[in-house]
Amino acid sequence: MILEVKGLKKYYPIEKGLFKASGGFIRAVDGVSFSLAEKETLGIVGESGCGKTTLAKLLLKLIAATSGEIIFSSKLSNLRKDAAIVFQDPLLSLDPRMNLKDILLEPFQAHGLKAERGSINRLLELVGLSNTLLTRLPRQLSGGERQRACIARALALSPKLLILDEPLSSLDSIIQKQILELLLKLKEEFGMAYIFISHNIAVVKKISTRILVMFQGKIVEQGAADEILTQPACGYTKKLLEAVR
Ligand SMILES: Nc1ncnc2c1ncn2[C@@H]1O[C@H](COP(=O)(O)OP(=O)(O)O)[C@@H](O)[C@H]1O
Ligand SMILES: [Mg+2]
Repeated sequence: MILEVKGLKKYYPIEKGLFKASGGFIRAVDGVSFSLAEKETLGIVGESGCGKTTLAKLLLKLIAATSGEIIFSSKLSNLRKDAAIVFQDPLLSLDPRMNLKDILLEPFQAHGLKAERGSINRLLELVGLSNTLLTRLPRQLSGGERQRACIARALALSPKLLILDEPLSSLDSIIQKQILELLLKLKEEFGMAYIFISHNIAVVKKISTRILVMFQGKIVEQGAADEILTQPACGYTKKLLEAVR
């Protein structure tokens, strides 16, 4: 086990007077428990707004939980280094003023490490980008190239856990297929654990060995991917499957 989550909650207060006179809470993540094995690919699926991104941010401690526990194994002892995340929109997650070279150097610098000679070229090679792109700014790259850059940056410090939050959703279908193939290849090469998040169960099933189905902040079903896909127990999972059939 590299990660264990127990009763995790994130409630956001609703501002008084906006919807309710008395305030109240949005239960973005509402009592989630699961564990992640080393080298596993865990898919998390559910409709927009069900709490997937909030859960991802809680796991990486980018936001604080309202309550609950996240237990990290020694493999994730330095979370900033041992875990990385790729978000849905590469344009929003890259600094518009940094060229590709600086983007790829940044994780090393952030940890006071000197990028070894060749580390940047190796990263480019891993994600299939040419080194002629190193001087380009994010807006001078295509959508697919930008997402490859985000993946390369995430791989820089050889994480043990990679969280992919809707990594294909901003891309057109041909590029989606290429990035999915890249992720499968990298997984095979490095064997890090993946948490692959998507609203689309058809995409999740292509990559995951185990799947969690989320609805309104809660896990409504979890299990081996083939079981959930062939014999979903929960009505909501059936609906997700019917929607992509
Ligand atoms: N910073 C925030 N403040 C208040 N509400 C938030 C915040 N972030 C997310 N939410 C709310 O929490 C719920 C879950 O959002 P999110 O985790 O982004 O869902 P998903 O990624 O599944 O689309 C939504 O109702 C969203 O509006
Ligand atoms: Mg999201």
